[in-house]
Amino acid sequence: MKQPPLPANEQDRLKALERYQILDTDPELAFDDLTSLAAHICDTPIALVSLVDSDRQWFKSRVGLEAIETPRELAFCAHTICQPDQMLIVPNALQDDRFAANPLVTADPNIRFYAGAPLVTPDGFALGTLCAIDRIPRELDPQKIAALQALSRQVISQLELRINIAKLKQNISKRVQIEQNLRGNNQRLTQVLKKLRQTQVQLIQSEKMSSLGHLIAGIAHEINNPVNFIYGNLSHVNIYIKDLLNLLTLYQEYYPNPNDEIKLQATTIDVDFLMEDLQKILSSMKIGTERIKEIVLSLRNFSRLGESEKKFVDLHEGIENTLLILRHRLLATAEYPNIAIIKEYHDIPQVECYASQMNQVFMNILSNAIDALEESVIKTQNPKPKIRIRTEISRPNYVVIKIADNGVGIPKEIQTRIFDPFFTSKPVGKGTGLGLSISYQIVVDKHVGTLKYKTKINNGTEFWIEIPVK
Ligand SMILES: Nc1ncnc2c1ncn2[C@@H]1O[C@H](COP(=O)(O)OP(=O)(O)OP(=O)(O)O)[C@@H](O)[C@H]1O
Ligand SMILES: [Mg+2]
Repeated sequence: MKQPPLPANEQDRLKALERYQILDTDPELAFDDLTSLAAHICDTPIALVSLVDSDRQWFKSRVGLEAIETPRELAFCAHTICQPDQMLIVPNALQDDRFAANPLVTADPNIRFYAGAPLVTPDGFALGTLCAIDRIPRELDPQKIAALQALSRQVISQLELRINIAKLKQNISKRVQIEQNLRGNNQRLTQVLKKLRQTQVQLIQSEKMSSLGHLIAGIAHEINNPVNFIYGNLSHVNIYIKDLLNLLTLYQEYYPNPNDEIKLQATTIDVDFLMEDLQKILSSMKIGTERIKEIVLSLRNFSRLGESEKKFVDLHEGIENTLLILRHRLLATAEYPNIAIIKEYHDIPQVECYASQMNQVFMNILSNAIDALEESVIKTQNPKPKIRIRTEISRPNYVVIKIADNGVGIPKEIQTRIFDPFFTSKPVGKGTGLGLSISYQIVVDKHVGTLKYKTKINNGTEFWIEIPVK
């Protein structure tokens, strides 16, 4: 038996075969159909799609043969691939000294006739054959040879198709990967954008609050000096007036009958009433200036400028200071009745927090309540607008401030958006839509608390601000 020769381009040929990733794959209908057709056309009991590997021939498809591969040195096809541009036809293997001693000839499957059409890739490598085999010697007429060649080209087309599909699949999975990456990037960008907006919101609000704080601190400072001057001098005025009144009493005692001009003046100014009322006026002036001093102190506390650390503070004081600032909005006007404030303060401990930021939260939520009440007066003639402020210990180490109004309530369709920055239902120029979003950040992010609400249309809204004591 003659060993089959190796094609000149054997190394590259094997690489080409490798490229198709076909060896040892499962049977495929497309190849089996072509093999059946080959057997049918050539009228042989056996037909194969054989691929010649480095040391074996492996059958991608087979008709009439059990074996799935044979050693390369026994393969007829190993001879065929050495002549890529022509078929190998062996009419009778017993009479061909290349094959006469081949065990595939001398024993099962007893090959006599062999016709192999090389499977040549577009770049010229013969990977194997499409072959028809018979157990008896015979010939193949030219039409059948041509048909077998045509079928062999179809086998190559199938192989090419496989490679293209594999490439396509790779492309698709690359695409999917790229898409995923893009989506990831997009998400990151959205997050960055969200962060940016939040920072912007914070900046705007803190700018707003800080200018309000500066304004208030400035006013408080300006009022402080003259008030102290008045307050400080009131006690002297008091003493002087008492002295003068004493003097007058003495005159009245020792000169009970003054001349007519003095008598007339005394009746005109009603000396007795004047003496009595002057005392009262003085003491109410004292109370008034004391009140102004308190207000100034509250204003200074409210602004709490420059306080950037957490401190233990009395939240009631913060609420009171905020109410003081909002006082002008609670009083009755031509349009709106007075807004009643019902305080239900309970005994709560001092809370460790950023005082000015918490004041900002009270300010935002109370302002919203006042807006909702004013709206309810106009819309539903709410006769008794009121705000109830309740403080209590909600659970161990937590305090809650509940601020409830009996205003318009929050419509269902905007409930999911009220904490969004820049969301406002108020007319242009009235709301910026920052109040709640900034309050949420202060309560939830900065103080690890919760900010939530209950609301009912035309029945009012209650906000809960719950924060840990420390
Ligand atoms: N107590 C409330 N009753 C009814 N609606 C409310 C109440 N509090 C908030 N809202 C609704 O939530 C929206 C958002 O409130 P937020 O305080 O964030 O913005 P704003 O009050 O509109 O504007 P800003 O506070 O920046 O001036 C309001 O426009 C309003 O529709
Ligand atoms: Mg608001």
